[in-house]
Amino acid sequence: YSNAVYDGDPVLTFNDAFNEMKADALKDGISIWISSGFRSYKTQKNLFERYCKNDVVSNVEMYSARPGHSEHQTGLAIDVNSASSSAYETTYKKVGEWLEKNCHRYGFIIRYPKGKENITGYIYEPWHIRYVGKDYAKKIKESGLCLEEYLGIDSKYAY
Ligand code: DAL
Ligand code: ZN
Repeated sequence: YSNAVYDGDPVLTFNDAFNEMKADALKDGISIWISSGFRSYKTQKNLFERYCKNDVVSNVEMYSARPGHSEHQTGLAIDVNSASSSAYETTYKKVGEWLEKNCHRYGFIIRYPKGKENITGYIYEPWHIRYVGKDYAKKIKESGLCLEEYLGIDSKYAY
């Protein structure tokens, strides 16, 4: 991704942004935490390979990035509370709704939105948020576009 999407130093502001969001969510009775943050290449490789032991690759690619292709490796994407659709349908439904409504105010976007699966290449992930800074998060949210559409790029792998 182009650095042009950032409106500040992403590394310095990311932590503050999450902590601010966590505190405000708690005021609304929503407890949030980072269930997965930065992942090394090796961690992503192990994760992808573990999934592939229980599922066909074409299916795994809809919910897990290949090593070298996950934005968790940038340190700017996090999973909030969980990373499973079933958990978000039951336990974390309110967390997902809160993030959908509010995370842009802290500089985050729902990176893999519902209805954009064919463009992002991934299933809807209500837990996975990406830091882009407050200005861009607001613009992207108001546009109704996913990040690929907003940046005019596609999500196809180039091997
Ligand atoms: N679950 C997201 C797509 C990742 O593996 O980075
Ligand atoms: Zn994630």
